[in-house]
Amino acid sequence: MTHDFIHHFYLGVVESKKNGFSYVIKGIFLPADYKLKNNVMNERIIIFDTTLRDGEQVPGCQLNTIEKIEVAKQLEKLGVDVIEAGFPVSSPGDFNSVVEISKAVINPTICGLTRAVKKDIEVAADALKFAKRGRIHTGIGTSPYHIYQKLNSNPEEIIKRAVEAVKYAKRFVEDVEFYAEDAGRTDNEYLAYVVEAVISAGATVVNIPDTTGYCLPSVYGEKIAYLVNNVPNIDKAVISTHCHNDLGMATANTLSGVINGARQVEVTLNGLGERAGNTALEEVVMAIQSHKDMNFKTGIDSKQIMKTSKLVSTLMRMPVQANKAIVGRNAFAHSSGIHQDGVLKSRETYEIIDPADVGIKESSIVLTARSGRAALNHRLEVLGYNLNQKKLDHIYKNFLVLADSKKEINDEDLAVLVGHEKKEKRILKLDEFQVVCGKSCVPSATITVNYNGKIITESSTGVGPVDAAYSAINKIVPVEVILEEYLVQAITRGSDEIGKVHVQISYNDITYHGFGANIDILTASVWAYLDALSKVVQQYKKTPEKKQAYEVNTH
Ligand code: KIV
Ligand code: ZN
Repeated sequence: MTHDFIHHFYLGVVESKKNGFSYVIKGIFLPADYKLKNNVMNERIIIFDTTLRDGEQVPGCQLNTIEKIEVAKQLEKLGVDVIEAGFPVSSPGDFNSVVEISKAVINPTICGLTRAVKKDIEVAADALKFAKRGRIHTGIGTSPYHIYQKLNSNPEEIIKRAVEAVKYAKRFVEDVEFYAEDAGRTDNEYLAYVVEAVISAGATVVNIPDTTGYCLPSVYGEKIAYLVNNVPNIDKAVISTHCHNDLGMATANTLSGVINGARQVEVTLNGLGERAGNTALEEVVMAIQSHKDMNFKTGIDSKQIMKTSKLVSTLMRMPVQANKAIVGRNAFAHSSGIHQDGVLKSRETYEIIDPADVGIKESSIVLTARSGRAALNHRLEVLGYNLNQKKLDHIYKNFLVLADSKKEINDEDLAVLVGHEKKEKRILKLDEFQVVCGKSCVPSATITVNYNGKIITESSTGVGPVDAAYSAINKIVPVEVILEEYLVQAITRGSDEIGKVHVQISYNDITYHGFGANIDILTASVWAYLDALSKVVQQYKKTPEKKQAYEVNTH
């Protein structure tokens, strides 16, 4: 597309003339120079965060009030404009959270959700009484599914109820947002009537939710453009997007909405939300930040993204998938040799975002069988090993052999490869081990460990055989570690096959991993624990003042 085609720009809709036809182009591909032609300068997109409302509706993600306040304060640091703090009428807990967040947070507008029901609106207004800037978010379903099946109503009645709800909410607060639930599957002409009516009634924001995540980006964009072009009083309100991710298009739909005239986006951290989730805040913000040519900006401090994502994930007990855009563990990790070499030469070769911009220290180079010499050498240099070419070639050969049998090569493996393994040998070895367990007996274990030639035996009971064995080991190695994860896996099928055990423990806020594999999973469990503990003992043996912490019980 050349800029000659473009003759008009209006609220994000680019109209083109080609071969005598006039048509509207929508999508995220805008000509690089349209700013010059249309003089549109970085318009501010309002970030409405609904992690604490739509995000919190996810089964198992419920937070208590104290946790919600912690998230709200971090959202404030992140720079969101609006926090949807809850649905006050839904429970006393939600009501209380909206009250407390209103007191704890100063800069963002605090919003409470309601149905188009007087009681809901009264309760929300009450919950928002301490908010410096409070907003009531009220609405009703507008698609045929909602009008006829859910609400057993008709289109005229729905408009009446919508208008009444907005007018009633206006008695309590100035800022009233209206949502047309399932707008994604609502006829555009009818939707335009609803939107016009609620704006006349005083709505300051009109939310156009794709409640079921059904729309394609072009369809959602056209819907927003239709409202921009067909609602006479649309300039009196802000259009908001609210997209769900059922077809994996929430971010694309949100951006399409913005390009076509929406100026508020409703998002959640990590894309949490009903079913497949809502639009992810981090994706929209970084898309806007990365595509400066779109000429939009947000008030988000992107360096706070990772911290906020982690807080939400931890408190909501919802792990982030490793390959999640922006905040996934692998979002800035490079595994292929070609990519690693490219990134080490120049980060931009394979990274469109500087990890520091989202609060991550650096990209990570994962050493696997696909890694090249450059990546291996880079990691060795970081660890302080400066090797000549001959030595590097030799180590690289051994590295490939090891990498073929192990998924990932870690720093300890590298120490072994460069010949520093003698110092790092495991110092706690299992000598003998016996467990007694069964239906009507208390599980107990007796363990004998060889600690650098000293033989130590201890016994203990526990709630199960593994617990008993680990308690006995804890008597031998009195280091107060936290067992963070214990994972058993069968290597192959069948009850007579080898089982693998991974344990993750932490000591002084440092994480250590241990691994064991045996035909007997209890032996594998003991090996894995001793493997992890050996690393703790080894590490602290080096630090004289920490000597007490690793001293093995030799009484
Ligand atoms: O998805 C939706 O329609 C909603 C509304 C209640 C705003 O979450
Ligand atoms: Zn929703």
